[in-house]
Amino acid sequence: MKVLVVGSGGREHALCWAIAKSPHCGELYCAPGNAGIDRVAVSVPIAAADINGIVSFADDNDIDFVVVGPEGPLVLGLVDRLEAAGVKAFGPTAKASRLEGSKGYTKDLCAKYQIPTAEYARFDEPDAAKDYIRVKGAPIVVKADGLAAGKGVILCRNENEAYAAIDHIMIEDAFKGAGAEVVIEEMLAGEEASFFALVDGSRALPLVAAQDHKAAFDGDQGPNTGGMGAYTPAPIVTDAMAKRVMDEIIKPTIRGTAEQGFPYKGVLYAGLMITDDGPKLIEYNARFGDPECQPMMMRLDSDLLPALVAAADGKLDGVTLKWRKEAALTVVMAANGYPGHYEKGSEIKGLDKASALEDVVVFHAGTKDDGGRIVANGGRVLNVTALGATIKAARKRAYEAVDLIDWPEGFCRRDIGWRAISR
Ligand code: AMP
Ligand code: GLY
Repeated sequence: MKVLVVGSGGREHALCWAIAKSPHCGELYCAPGNAGIDRVAVSVPIAAADINGIVSFADDNDIDFVVVGPEGPLVLGLVDRLEAAGVKAFGPTAKASRLEGSKGYTKDLCAKYQIPTAEYARFDEPDAAKDYIRVKGAPIVVKADGLAAGKGVILCRNENEAYAAIDHIMIEDAFKGAGAEVVIEEMLAGEEASFFALVDGSRALPLVAAQDHKAAFDGDQGPNTGGMGAYTPAPIVTDAMAKRVMDEIIKPTIRGTAEQGFPYKGVLYAGLMITDDGPKLIEYNARFGDPECQPMMMRLDSDLLPALVAAADGKLDGVTLKWRKEAALTVVMAANGYPGHYEKGSEIKGLDKASALEDVVVFHAGTKDDGGRIVANGGRVLNVTALGATIKAARKRAYEAVDLIDWPEGFCRRDIGWRAISR
C-alpha cells in the first residue's frame, strides 16, 4: 500500500513511525513532514492546509491511503475532497469534524443525546452573553465557538474576567471569526484525561487513555501550550471508568452523529473531566492528541495500519488492538520563549545518543535538516518518549534521554507524569 500522512508534528512522526513498521506499508510519504519523519518516510513539501496540493499529490502518485493528522485540513474538507477523487482517507469529513470545529454544535449534540457535560448556553450577541454571566455568576468558562488553535477557552474566576473574555472574543475578535459565537459553561472540578477511540461510522474501538500537561512550566504554572508532555495509561481511567466513557459518552455520540446524517469516521478524542459524578465531556477533537499520540504509539503492540484502514472502510468489527503492559511517557522539548515568541534555526546535538538508549524514541516536531545539521524550526521541537515498567520508570528513562540532548536554546518541564506518580 502507498500511504500518505498529512502533518508535520510529533503526532505525525509517531504515526509514520508506527505505519512504517506495517508489512502492509509499501511506500510512505508525509506532507510536509520534518527532519525526524525524513528517516521513516519521504517528506513532500506540501503544507497540511494546502488541500488542492495534497489531493493532486495523492492522485498523481497513486496513493492508496491518506492519514490526516491535524484538525485544520479535516475542518477544511480534505477527507471529502480525497474521497471525491477516489482516494481512501482516515479522518472525519468536514461536517463530521464539527465535533471539534464547533463547540456549540457538540454541546447541542450532548444535550440531545444526554451525554454528560458541563451545563452551557450559546450566544451570538455580547450583551445577552453578559446577562447570562450575571445570572450564573463565577467561576465560569467562556469559549469561542470555532477553532482557535487551543487558545479559545478562557477560565474566569470572577464575573469581571468573564465580561472581559466576552469583549476579547466577540468584540475584539481575537480569534478571527472563531468567536462570532460563544459557549458559556459551568466550571467543572475533577481530574482531566484524554480518551481515544477509533470509529468507523457506526462502531467504536476504544484505544487507551492518556494525560497531558498543558501549562508551559513545572507545577502547571505559566501560559497554556499545545501540550508539554503526556503519558499512558492514565491511572484515573480504570477499566470500569473506560467502560462508562464508552457507554455514556462515545457510543451515544456515534449514534447521534450518524442519526444526524454525519457519520463519524476516524479517531475520536474525548477531553474528559473525571468528576465525583463520573466522566464528563469537556470537548471533542477529531484527531489524535499531540503529544498523547507519541506515548500511545510506543505502547501499541499491533499493526496500526490495518486498523486505520478498517475504520475508513466502516469495518471495525473483529478488529482488536493489543497494548503493551508497560507505561510510556513523552517529554516535550520546546524552543525558549514558547508559547510566546521564539527563535528558529538553533542547532540540536546529541539526538543519536538519546535515541540509542533502550526503549527510547525521539519523535521530532518542529525540526529541519539543514545540510546534515538538525535545527529547530518551530515552538514544540522534540518529543522524547520512553517505555518503562511503570510511569515512574518511563519518566526516569525519558529524562535520561533528555539529558543527552545538547540544545541550550530549548527547555522542557521536569515534572511530566507528576499527577500519576503522586497517586
Ligand atoms: P480546550 O481548549 O477546549 O481543550 O480547553 C482547554 C482547557 O480548559 C481544558 O483542557 C480544561 O483544562 C479547561 N476547561 C475547558 N472547559 C472547562 C470546564 N467546563 N470546566 C473546567 N475546565 C474546563
Ligand atoms: N494535547 C492536546 C491536543 O492535542 O489537543
